[in-house]
Amino acid sequence: MVASRPHIILSAAVSLDGKIATKNRDSALSSGQDRIRFHKLRAKVDAILVGINTVKIDDPLLTVRYAKGKNPIRVILDSSGTISPKSKIIKTCNAIPTIIAVSKKAPKKNLALLAKYPLQIVVSGQNKVDTKKLLRILQKQNIKTILLEGGGTLNWEFIHKGLVDELIVTIAPYVVGGKDATTLVEGSGFSKITTSSKLKLRNIIRQKNEVVLHYYI
Ligand SMILES: NC(=O)c1ccc[n+]([C@@H]2O[C@H](COP(=O)([O-])OP(=O)(O)OC[C@H]3O[C@@H](n4cnc5c(N)ncnc54)[C@H](OP(=O)(O)O)[C@@H]3O)[C@@H](O)[C@H]2O)c1
Repeated sequence: MVASRPHIILSAAVSLDGKIATKNRDSALSSGQDRIRFHKLRAKVDAILVGINTVKIDDPLLTVRYAKGKNPIRVILDSSGTISPKSKIIKTCNAIPTIIAVSKKAPKKNLALLAKYPLQIVVSGQNKVDTKKLLRILQKQNIKTILLEGGGTLNWEFIHKGLVDELIVTIAPYVVGGKDATTLVEGSGFSKITTSSKLKLRNIIRQKNEVVLHYYI
């Protein structure tokens, strides 16, 4: 049977109290050992997908550097097409295939700026990217597996729409606190436990002082 959308693995490093960044947006939770593990995982997928806030705050490369293997296609969800030409993503888009997913509200001047770079621009949704439509487009481009690397807002978008198949979370040995710190899943949240899916624990890896939990949905 042909899958109707790509297989999606949500991956993140969280503090013991469930935060993915501090109130000042510091997200340096990964250990060296964990970095090697998730770079190996990146090398196995067709695409990595993140939200525009993660790009603006962390300025990530989203490449495979601490393991051997190919770089996946990078997909940035950026409804208004505001990604900075100074970002590492744009600076490296001539070497690494990159898709900027925008919505119909993206101003023409932003799109004109992006058109100067070797990027693929995918338009879906009126005011924000229509994730289901985007996934259908990515599927048609032979993208079969996607690593969803956050942040919390995007994680909620995919979780509540039932678009996540696996969850791999490293519990880092820190307690961060703060009601304004970003959690693994933001958004409005489910009102009842029974509305959220009961996940199946597939594997636990102990990495010295931290654990990696692997769940199926
Ligand atoms: N520890 C970790 O593993 C980890 C991993 C990743 C990120 N982080 C941290 O997470 C924080 C960022 O998380 P965040 O929650 O603020 O932002 P985010 O999830 O990275 O990005 C959210 C943005 O994506 C855009 N977007 C486009 N289409 C969307 C859709 N259909 N649904 C939802 N969002 C859509 C929206 O902006 P537009 O409307 O402008 O498009 C939205 O505000 C950073 O501090 C980063 O360091 C931590």
